[in-house]
Amino acid sequence: MKSKSADNAAPDPSELPRHVAVIMDGNGRWAKKRMLNRVKGHERGADTVRTVVRTSREIGIRYLTLYAFSTENWQRPQTEITALMTLLKRFLDSETREMIDNNIRLNVIGEKERLPEDVQNVFDQTLSATAGNDGMCLTLALSYGGRAEIARAARAAAQAFKDGQIDVTEITPEYLSGFLYTAEIPDPELLIRTSGEIRVSNFLLWQIAYTEIFVTPTLWPDFTREEYLDILKHFKDRERRFGRVSS
Ligand code: IPE
Ligand code: IPE
Ligand code: MG
Repeated sequence: MKSKSADNAAPDPSELPRHVAVIMDGNGRWAKKRMLNRVKGHERGADTVRTVVRTSREIGIRYLTLYAFSTENWQRPQTEITALMTLLKRFLDSETREMIDNNIRLNVIGEKERLPEDVQNVFDQTLSATAGNDGMCLTLALSYGGRAEIARAARAAAQAFKDGQIDVTEITPEYLSGFLYTAEIPDPELLIRTSGEIRVSNFLLWQIAYTEIFVTPTLWPDFTREEYLDILKHFKDRERRFGRVSS
């Protein structure tokens, strides 16, 4: 239900970022504060994912990219990894219908092949069921690492050179961008990180070169539609100079 308060009103569509990326952090601390198992925090975090996806679609964000699992997160205890994978599957099972109904296309970036086979299968089903949708592109970064992504692009360029397809001078930023997982997606204008950590933790290293970064102390399970809309409204107050001088 939409509240009538001005704070809860959707921002002017012409002032919205086209692409919002989010580092969803703080699930473990949310649980710890309540003397709960970290997994409970991830479960509540999944509810916030639903809220942010719905809100984004409703107000007209074109691309939403969520950091769900990093390459470094494989170093967490196996029980936590297993619980996260189960949650992912459950999320897709419950949300695929809504994605289809709301014209949302699912996309995955990262080493999808490292995910358990059953999780990959559910993903493949949702990816194909939503492939034709063009209302919003929801990208989940899974087993994703920015450095690994850039190294992968460098390998592809090196291979093209070795095969005699290109000259070294053709290896430009634009050329390398075409080998990133995000080749078809514009760079994010806005990056939100919850839980107060002021770092990027290997997320979209290449793509955030000129992205506006908002860090909120709110832990991800406590992040609300209202706070999201508030950040989106403040985004327009940032002066994006891209290395130039003020106009
Ligand atoms: C983010 O919450 C979710 C994932 C990284 C999968 P964390 O699990 O990192 O929560 P904190 O940072 O320990 O509070
Ligand atoms: C970043 O959070 C990864 C995800 C949100 C998936 P982490 O909790 O893993 O990052 P650090 O350890 O605080 O840098
Ligand atoms: Mg964390």
